[in-house]
Amino acid sequence: MEKTYHIITFGCQMNERDSETLAGMLQAEGYTYTDDKEAAEVVLLNTCSVRENADKKFFGVLGQLKHSHEANPDKVVGVCGCMMQQQHIIDMLKSKYPWVDIVFGTHNVAEFPRLLNNVQTTKKNIVEVPEDEEAMAEGLPAKRAYSFKAFVNVMYGCNNFCSYCIVPYTRGRERSRRPEDILAEIRDLAAHGCKEITLLGQNVNSYGKVKHGEGSYCYKDEPDGGVDFAKLIRMIDEIEGIERIRFMTSHPKDLSDDLIECFRDCKHLCHFFHLPVQSGSDRILKEMNRHYDREKYFERVEKLKEACPDISLSTDIIVGFPGETEEDFEGTLDLVRRVRYESAFTFIYSVRRGTPAAAMENQVPEDVKHERFNRLVDTIHEIQEEISKKYQDQVLPVLIEGPSKTDPEVLTGRTESGKTVDLKAPAELIGQIVPVKIVKAQTFSLYGELA
Ligand code: SAH
Ligand code: SF4
Ligand code: F3S
Repeated sequence: MEKTYHIITFGCQMNERDSETLAGMLQAEGYTYTDDKEAAEVVLLNTCSVRENADKKFFGVLGQLKHSHEANPDKVVGVCGCMMQQQHIIDMLKSKYPWVDIVFGTHNVAEFPRLLNNVQTTKKNIVEVPEDEEAMAEGLPAKRAYSFKAFVNVMYGCNNFCSYCIVPYTRGRERSRRPEDILAEIRDLAAHGCKEITLLGQNVNSYGKVKHGEGSYCYKDEPDGGVDFAKLIRMIDEIEGIERIRFMTSHPKDLSDDLIECFRDCKHLCHFFHLPVQSGSDRILKEMNRHYDREKYFERVEKLKEACPDISLSTDIIVGFPGETEEDFEGTLDLVRRVRYESAFTFIYSVRRGTPAAAMENQVPEDVKHERFNRLVDTIHEIQEEISKKYQDQVLPVLIEGPSKTDPEVLTGRTESGKTVDLKAPAELIGQIVPVKIVKAQTFSLYGELA
């Protein structure tokens, strides 16, 4: 009988990349992917704990699996990812969802085949969530979501401890991969037709800055000064076949002049920068433990625009951090108007147990948070509408990614700035970067034709 698996990924690109590894390991064991989570013999839920609604979504989906799990004694339900690095979640799983077969964390993804084998032979549940975060397994198989674009981890973990954020607790300390491993992975991807890579890390700008554990890379240990993030980009820029380089995420406090200069010098670096600001109030930025102020942020943005005048900027913003006043919030609106982001991810502050902000007493009432959130979104949309007009009649390179979700007759692709473009074109162009003339520029979508 064919063995099938299904994986549901909540959360960020790091989780998506981990899911590709989990899928690769399952395929190596002879499993094939199915869309049907009820029928699949192995189901994995790769969780996120960054905001409360991510937690809620997970418990909703988990509850749905109980029935098919009961009906099939061979079915294995495993849960992993960031939520599993939190003790109160493990406790809740044990008491309310004791039927879950495997629980593992973000630091032992590589151990999954062994855990699966154990459960299948002993029929006993396993909870294995190590505290030890030093392991950085290399050379694991991966089933990549696309052949022409790929995520590549450069570092794991985060040392910044922004006061609202759970990630440093769920992903552990910063560890950087060795440049030779990263370059070898990208060369191999390029040899198999990959054109676009996105370098991943919670704070890629601090790539190689600190050592944590035997396997991690630190450029300060190298006699020739080693490879920092800007140098890594320059090396990747030389790899034959890689036509687009992206990265995320960057912390403004660590954005170096060297990295900014890469935008002037590197042929394949996309003219796009995701630079999360979080707030436009100096007082709130301080409470958030962000280590920069408005002026420093504006200075970095100006320098980026100088080095790369057509750069498209994107950001993350949190509304309603504890103690945020109307004046603080207006600082955020003002900053958004000054920087003029082409895209922005906006979030309502969500209390995360165990973080310093969760213990702050001056939490903002829900209705105030929502009202500010709506004003922020409106302001961002106005700016986006103006910016999108500039695309009208332009010819842009577009990476064709596949059929459009709304109309299978139409293909969809992405500009360097990450905007989607719908166009009529032959399916052979999927995976190619082609010039496209924009015939209709709307705020959130562009329509084009082959130029
Ligand atoms: N390391 C990245 C991504 C972190 S998580 C970075 O620093 O940018 C992605 C975004 O989620 C953050 O940028 C932040 O805007 C948001 N976020 C994190 N914790 C949050 C919380 N407790 N409430 C609301 N939004 C949060
Ligand atoms: Fe969280 Fe801040 Fe680290 Fe980003 S830099 S993952 S927001 S602690
Ligand atoms: Fe979520 Fe973990 Fe990513 S908390 S945002 S999946 S690092």
